[in-house]
Amino acid sequence: MPSPVQVLTERFQSALETAFGEEYAGTDPVIRPSQFADFQANAALALAKRLGDNPRAVAQRIVDALDIDDIADAPEISGPGFVNLRLHDAWIAAQVDALDARLGVPLQQPQTIPVDYSAPNVAKEMHVGHLRTTVVGDALVRTLEHLGHRVIRQNHVGDWGTMFGMLIEHLLDVGEDSPEALLMVSDPNAFYAAANAQFASDPEFATRARARVVMLQGGDEDTLRHWHELVDLSKQYFNRIYATLGVTLTDDDLAGESTYNDELAEICEELEERGIATISDGALCVFLDGYLGREGKPVPLIIRKSDGGYGYATTDLATIRRRVRDMKADRILYVIGVTQALHLNMVWDTARKAGWLTDDVEVVHVQIGSVLGEDRKLLRTRSGKPLKLMDLLTDAVSTARSVVDQARPDLAEDVRAAIAPQVGIGAVKYADLAVAHDSDYVFDLDRMVTLTGNTGPYLQYAAARIRSIFRKAGLTPAQADATVVVTEPAERALALRLLDFGEVVLQVGDLLEPHRLCGYLFDLAQLFSSFYDECPVLKAEGDTRASRLALCAATLAVLDQGLDLLGIPRPEQM
Ligand code: ARG
Repeated sequence: MPSPVQVLTERFQSALETAFGEEYAGTDPVIRPSQFADFQANAALALAKRLGDNPRAVAQRIVDALDIDDIADAPEISGPGFVNLRLHDAWIAAQVDALDARLGVPLQQPQTIPVDYSAPNVAKEMHVGHLRTTVVGDALVRTLEHLGHRVIRQNHVGDWGTMFGMLIEHLLDVGEDSPEALLMVSDPNAFYAAANAQFASDPEFATRARARVVMLQGGDEDTLRHWHELVDLSKQYFNRIYATLGVTLTDDDLAGESTYNDELAEICEELEERGIATISDGALCVFLDGYLGREGKPVPLIIRKSDGGYGYATTDLATIRRRVRDMKADRILYVIGVTQALHLNMVWDTARKAGWLTDDVEVVHVQIGSVLGEDRKLLRTRSGKPLKLMDLLTDAVSTARSVVDQARPDLAEDVRAAIAPQVGIGAVKYADLAVAHDSDYVFDLDRMVTLTGNTGPYLQYAAARIRSIFRKAGLTPAQADATVVVTEPAERALALRLLDFGEVVLQVGDLLEPHRLCGYLFDLAQLFSSFYDECPVLKAEGDTRASRLALCAATLAVLDQGLDLLGIPRPEQM
């Protein structure tokens, strides 16, 4: 179902065609919400220049040709040539009534979209950067799937590299089922640090570790088995974080760097043979136009180091080739830190040169900004320890617990215990999503879990409050299907905003900006709150009561669906 802006846009475009001829049919009438009416169309200002006429006269010609009696009052021309539009109350109400299970969200022409997100590294702690790509990536994946696309989740974990020689030797030294080995699951940085300390202090260990790298690269079976063990332990660690966060990634979505091992030599050979890559200081490099470093020297993309090893860029070339050639991607998203922009652009340009990336495939870097501590530098836990992601999430849940305890002492202990993780995790995820994904923000737990302002808990609370209205009414939301009648201004404002949901979700899918959905839901929840303050629901009678309950049900449906697209849990009560 089209949103009011879309409906008005169509009506304006036929008016433009009637008034000025066919070539004006595609002109954007620039319809925006307005404080003077419901919407204002600004088309006349730009058109006046093109037509060499004065804007008010142009506006009048548009209005004369405009056919909107069935949905809006007679348009008014104001100022230099704005057209003010006020929709009929009855039309707004009928549109709300017409919302079906999709709530106005269209199904798009399906595209195949691999989404590269999360991508932590084996034997390393996930950091807040990984948290943010995981949360933003998951919201995008959910939204794109809801819009009808075929999304392929791609967790490009760092599971290969020379450090595995040292990690395997350490695993064998401590014993595969030892508590030290299990640090891989609970505290991977500690496991890594122990291995590294051994490597630095014990020459015999270092020699074994180096030999192990050679065996790993040579495909020695035993060594590969141990490598697998390490990766499996890491998977347990990632999966614990994913389960805590409630993200949709599973083991099936793992497509780590090692996936492409067999293709790297061939990638390099092909690029070298075709003259796209050349040897420079012993390394195989791609030099691309337009990438100049300091003193104007060209920056190389190194695809084979002088010791013969392949790197991050080589794997990413193999990856994109597969996504285009085998997965038949229409659009590829990389939900990755801002700092990797240069790397990605060089990989894409190389792939274009090689013909592995073609013009019909859109590649997008969804840039992820930094999460900062209160000193605007490093993020630490409450206790001041360097950050472990699991500790941060635990902190969030216990902070949420005190908020819930304070707000709802009347709820049973086990109910509060069940709500706390939903609120704490919801708060952290929402804070990641509500800021434009490429901006930095300061991690402030106390602010994130408050029940007021643009926070996850505020939205969870708004939805829970509507659920409680239905409990008190003794109805399920589905039973509230009476015809909506819009009379009070607060009712009208809420109903009108409900009709924008589809358009907002569409924008999130196109622009890849989940914060737009956050802003919309926050606005909707505030409008609901004004409605609920000004228009009694349970105390109203007859058709008014039934209509207001239907508005409550529609609002709840949109809040629930919106939070679900963001991956934010929805407590029954709060
Ligand atoms: N593992 C990398 C990191 O932690 C991110 C990988 C992103 N994906 C990719 N295709 N390069 O920074």
